[in-house]
Amino acid sequence: MATVAELLQPVEVDLETLLSDLRHLIGAGHPILQAAAEHLFSAGGKRLRPGIVLLISRALSADGELGARHRRLAEITEMIHTASLVHDDVVDEAATRRGVATVHSRFNHRVAVLAGDFLFAQASWHLANLDNLEVVKLLSRVIMDLADGEIRQGLFRYDTGQTFATYLEKSYCKTASLIANSCRAAGVLSGLPLERLDDLYRFGRQLGLAFQVVDDILDFTGSDQQLGKPAASDLASGYLTAPALYAMEEHPALAGLIEREFCQSGDLEQALELVRSSEAIGRSRALAQDFARDAAEALTWLPPSDCRGALLQLPEFVLSRLY
Ligand code: IPE
Ligand code: IPE
Ligand code: MG
Ligand code: MG
Repeated sequence: MATVAELLQPVEVDLETLLSDLRHLIGAGHPILQAAAEHLFSAGGKRLRPGIVLLISRALSADGELGARHRRLAEITEMIHTASLVHDDVVDEAATRRGVATVHSRFNHRVAVLAGDFLFAQASWHLANLDNLEVVKLLSRVIMDLADGEIRQGLFRYDTGQTFATYLEKSYCKTASLIANSCRAAGVLSGLPLERLDDLYRFGRQLGLAFQVVDDILDFTGSDQQLGKPAASDLASGYLTAPALYAMEEHPALAGLIEREFCQSGDLEQALELVRSSEAIGRSRALAQDFARDAAEALTWLPPSDCRGALLQLPEFVLSRLY
């Protein structure tokens, strides 16, 4: 399977421009916030979200050229994503992100909270300046969903009575909403009819859910180094994701360990072992596969191009992160 760089190759030059434009856009801010934002941008994430927006935008363009507003949409998408990571890491007390120290550990909590706000605010300003009310509504909804998702996740910590639907709603809010709505917004800027906008949204939603389930599996199976962020941390924080929820069905004893918040020595190790040795990882993988399959089916109508080819391979790429 292709690496992310190979997959995003049709928009590689666009993504390089994006990075320098992002630096320029945030450059007008307060020096310390600028340094904090720059710290994460230069650590280099996968840039999957702007990559998807750019691939869709080029795939939809009759002459294959990219408009300034599509470019700006891709930048806004990465700004919102990065802002959400800065805040998520504060909430999770995580020490690393993208293989480097998180903003709050490199600087401090005050700087991290403000840097996240600063990025959200910048994104909102540039969003409004796209002068397209429909796109403003789609992306401002995403910012609401991100906050909603973080709050929901906090409310359901260590709650073994939560349903699988709760987990999926939280995952939609924290991850899928941004991808789904930015895909749809790219279609809006290209003047697509409603039915096609729904297809773009469905692609992003299902891909986002697959991506989150894969991230949740990797939290159990990956290493800090491989992920560039702390592994084995979801369960320890009381976040019950697909693998933990499935494992509880198989091993009722797991619920007891979670409910007492791993307060006795060896509890957490035992719980991790129960999840890893159960059918839960395999079942979670099957769930991610279902979402990925749906995603690939949503975009088959795109006219043939390199960008279409890359988009149709993306769901498989998301799954391949597990191997
Ligand atoms: C991390 O997203 C947050 C999740 C949705 C799991 P990415 O894995 O895309 O993060 P970067 O941008 O590549 O660092
Ligand atoms: C997060 O999901 C997506 C965000 C909006 C931050 P996670 O909480 O699983 O992300 P990681 O694992 O910290 O990257
Ligand atoms: Mg997190
Ligand atoms: Mg995670």
